[in-house]
Amino acid sequence: MPMAKTAAVPLLLAFALIATAQDKPANPLGASPQVAEAGRLLYNKSCTACHGPDGTDGDRAPALDGNRRYFRVSEAAIFEVVKNGIPGTVMPSSGLSDNDVWRIVAFIRNVRATASDLVVPGDAQNGMAVFNGAGGCVRCHMIRGQGGLLGPDLSSIGAQLSLIRLKDALTKERPVPNGFRPVTAVTAKGEKLSGVAKNSDAFSLQLLDAQGKLHLLDMSELRSVEFSKKSLMPRSFDKTLTATQYRDLLAMLAVQARTKVRAPLQGENEIGR
Ligand code: HEC
Ligand code: HEC
Repeated sequence: MPMAKTAAVPLLLAFALIATAQDKPANPLGASPQVAEAGRLLYNKSCTACHGPDGTDGDRAPALDGNRRYFRVSEAAIFEVVKNGIPGTVMPSSGLSDNDVWRIVAFIRNVRATASDLVVPGDAQNGMAVFNGAGGCVRCHMIRGQGGLLGPDLSSIGAQLSLIRLKDALTKERPVPNGFRPVTAVTAKGEKLSGVAKNSDAFSLQLLDAQGKLHLLDMSELRSVEFSKKSLMPRSFDKTLTATQYRDLLAMLAVQARTKVRAPLQGENEIGR
């Protein structure tokens, strides 16, 4: 039956194409930290006319770790984009050798991993000392039940953010997320309260103060309310801490992945895992 045959061939072909696209071998160079580092150096040389250094936001192209619509996930898909560019956009083909493209692929996968998937250099135990001491983080943040409430709980932060986003959180201003807007209110009795607005509308305000006390306030009974656009989160820890403190703090935050943490074995330090 010639008819059936001709119909089957394109079908089979399409199937074979899908199968090879899915079965594309993973990065032939592997994904060791050395390969990723070589990729980072190549990327910083070839791509930062548009993208930012180390995969951050650039002037003419997006960060490589963003949650974007055209987010390419598999190694093969990233290889394809870096090798051949994205038609219809300014993203050019790279003109690099396949091996160099694979190095860059390893780097991009690294950039996209959550911090807890990476080996982040530093002494996590000392990082915890910085968290509780020089950094003053513990005033506002909790890790496994210890600490303040003004900022988000950081017990799983390493599993939530990529290393780039984690560094950004410590060093770059950004719009204050809902639930963390700083607020100062003066009650009818003249009592001054300040903290963050957990919730607010035209009639009521839930204000969480630095002592962790939640005040449920009636707007009409307040003498004044002032919201601030500047987060309580200091954003210059790369400058206010020493290089060692900053590195160790990052190493400590990176391993905070509550869901992944197993019970420490006897004699093993839970944080320094
Ligand atoms: C001339 C500017 C320019 C240069 C140079 C450039 N890019 Fe891009 N790149 C872009 C733009 C713009 C986009 C977004 C395109 C779009 O809108 O889809 C992009 C997108 C990408 C994406 C897709 C992101 C995603 O989530 O799907 C990857 C990966 C990428 N670039 C990697 C690279 C690498 C690696 C290099 C260097 C070898 C490079 N780019 C050089 C402009 C550039
Ligand atoms: C005075 C209170 C305060 C101090 C001190 C403080 N933070 Fe924060 N932090 C906040 C608040 C509030 C937020 C949430 C609002 C925002 O991101 O702007 C936040 C956000 C963060 C985030 C982002 C969390 C996410 O889910 O995106 C990280 C990470 C973080 N802080 C780490 C630290 C570390 C580490 C220190 C110490 C070196 C520290 N903070 C010191 C109040 C503080």
